[in-house]
Amino acid sequence: MNNIAFKIVEWGTKEYLDIVKLRHEMLRKPLGLVTDKDDLEGDKTHVKIIGLNEEEVIAIAALEEINGIYKMQGVAVKDEYQNKGIGSKMIHFCENYAKQYGIKSIFCHSLLSASNFYEKLGYVDEGHYVSACGIPYIKMTKVL
Ligand SMILES: CC(C)(COP(=O)(O)OP(=O)(O)OC[C@H]1O[C@@H](n2cnc3c(N)ncnc32)[C@H](O)[C@@H]1OP(=O)(O)O)[C@@H](O)C(=O)NCCC(=O)NCCS
Repeated sequence: MNNIAFKIVEWGTKEYLDIVKLRHEMLRKPLGLVTDKDDLEGDKTHVKIIGLNEEEVIAIAALEEINGIYKMQGVAVKDEYQNKGIGSKMIHFCENYAKQYGIKSIFCHSLLSASNFYEKLGYVDEGHYVSACGIPYIKMTKVL
């Protein structure tokens, strides 16, 4: 799909609320997690990225600056739009955004099921961990 537009959105907008909803459905509910106040507070300072198919938010990601590098999180593409290259394009959008701001590397805590996706985009396995809420993940990093 070539007509997906990626852009940055501001906290509190309608598109931001679409992010919260999609993130909850795809990344919180399936893992038995809730969307809490900390999520919404944290969102205020994160760079929030969406992919739009016309008016519909179909892809989401966020970047959090930590000591001069970015942590990428909340990455998801709506089920019916997966495996069409949209997730890869969104990661490239995030990487180009990071480069524009002089960020030299990005890392993420990938679910085990998504590590292959990041590997194909040049992210390197830096070890397996378990989160505070018991979810196994792989730290993956890419030098830009
Ligand atoms: C992971 C995700 C964002 C990928 O988005 P996408 O738009 O489907 O990815 P793409 O179409 O750009 O796929 C690029 C490549 O990664 C592979 N890939 C995509 N999702 C994958 C997954 N979950 N596991 C393994 N490989 C995957 C594709 O097969 C494709 O390989 P190819 O280039 O050889 O065909 C999407 O599947 C998703 O939202 N999954 C559910 C939520 C999730 O797991 N998010 C990541 C949290 S860490």
